[in-house]
Amino acid sequence: PHLDMFVDELPILSTLNVAASSHITLGAYKINQKLHRDLPSTALYAFGTSQETAQYPGPTLEATRWVPTSITWENHIEDNFHFLPSDNSLSIPRLQRGGVPMVVHLHGGEVPSNSDGNPEAWYTSRGETGPSFTSQKYLYPNRQPATMLWYHDHTIGMNRINVAAGLFGLYIIRSPGEDANLGLPSGRYEIPLLFQDKRFFPNGHIRFSSIGAIPSVHPVWCPDAFGDTMVVNGKIWPFLNVEPRRYRFRMLNGNTERYLSLALSTSADSALPFTQIGTDGGFLAEPQTVWEIVLASAERVDVIIDFSRLRKGTEIYLTNSARAPFPNGNRLPGNTRLVMKFIVVAATSQNSGTPNTTISPILNNHTNIHLRGNERIRTHTLVDVFSGISQTIPVEFLLNYRNWVAPATEVVEQGSTEIWEIINLTNEAHPIHVHLVNFRVLNMQRMDVPRYANRSCSLSVQYPNAGTCFGGQLEAPTSYMVGWKDTVTILPSMMTRIAIRFTMQDGAPFAFDPTGSPGYLWHCHLLGHEDNEMMRPLLLE
Ligand code: C2O
Ligand code: CU
Repeated sequence: PHLDMFVDELPILSTLNVAASSHITLGAYKINQKLHRDLPSTALYAFGTSQETAQYPGPTLEATRWVPTSITWENHIEDNFHFLPSDNSLSIPRLQRGGVPMVVHLHGGEVPSNSDGNPEAWYTSRGETGPSFTSQKYLYPNRQPATMLWYHDHTIGMNRINVAAGLFGLYIIRSPGEDANLGLPSGRYEIPLLFQDKRFFPNGHIRFSSIGAIPSVHPVWCPDAFGDTMVVNGKIWPFLNVEPRRYRFRMLNGNTERYLSLALSTSADSALPFTQIGTDGGFLAEPQTVWEIVLASAERVDVIIDFSRLRKGTEIYLTNSARAPFPNGNRLPGNTRLVMKFIVVAATSQNSGTPNTTISPILNNHTNIHLRGNERIRTHTLVDVFSGISQTIPVEFLLNYRNWVAPATEVVEQGSTEIWEIINLTNEAHPIHVHLVNFRVLNMQRMDVPRYANRSCSLSVQYPNAGTCFGGQLEAPTSYMVGWKDTVTILPSMMTRIAIRFTMQDGAPFAFDPTGSPGYLWHCHLLGHEDNEMMRPLLLE
């Protein structure tokens, strides 16, 4: 359907203070919600404290650092079948009684493994549970530094359709006093922005790939599914009136597969920079000025935008220039080239007293990992697998040529630091996410993929000197890879080295026993890849 841009105002997501009570209950419900002035209501699965309050995206949970909380996640989805097409050829829950399986993962959270939302720990509203299920009640220690996480469904083989259906929301950890000390805009001037690309039928229903790219192998699954409409905080192409001052925007790419390469352009035909202050795992060491931000599915960025020098009436577009698949795919962003619009309005007298503070030049003193040179190095490959049917469309994606069910190979020692060298042998970027921990990107190095494929060179990696498969010099991480990360883009034909500390983010031992079952995992966060085997267990000992 044709939908006019910028006719709906940006919704401000409702928040739920989870620090106020030691235990809360949230449920997944089927709802109908208006996503655009001219589009009939859309059926969605969404979280809320009740059927009446459930919304897409779910409530933003506000936690306080050092104040643990527990959440019981209930599944109240009564449908017999998912309203989006699932694919029986993938590893998905085999249900006897129908229903829609669900399990919630707190992305970026330092949590015990039985609260991690393991893909096999799903459950339905009809009492069926997956093999790793133990409880619907999860414990969140909230020990980590202030940042924005997100909660989302993680059901095996169905994660992409559950997230596309709306089963996710934001989770902010605040460290008391911290924001005030850093001089950051707060209150109504701090706004989370949650992006999700979608496609719709004229009747408002979500349109999702329903015929596989290689239907004889996977009747429904496609390697990448891209929407043609941008939804922000639950409205299609919204606008936001802003006062001439600084704002803090905390952004999440909630797309199933589409990358975003975000920039600002003003109606005065000039660009406006972002001042980036944070990323997945919290504040950067110091603010950095950036003109473009690449965000993969699940990545977050914390930015300040300064509208103070813009005249009343100026319009500022948040634009996306990422090709699909990223970065060299054959599709231009199309309608997703525009994401949302800001309009500068007069400062209201009611707010003129709000101080427009100066951002602290030092944001975080705890961003370095000290390497001793004796860290364990693991080399991983990201690969696509082709059948005899097509040499261009893969039938699945794998990590190290292993399936999800193959026995765990990443068994790491608690307290240790490891260097992971991740090599992308495919021709698209993959955002690699490691549960439980944060890491730093050390560097990148271009690979000679054909020689590697011929085995006519060696990998024999001895950090920081690589084997003969590497064409280029060590490159510094790009601006969108700095700071504490839990998800990082591995560009095609590149090796990216990350240093992971298997401790709490502040370096302290885990505040819980991370060795229990069902353990953790690491995977590609393009949800269609994750659903089709690009996911592996991660165990701690
Ligand atoms: Cu955002 Cu394993 O997930
Ligand atoms: Cu991938």
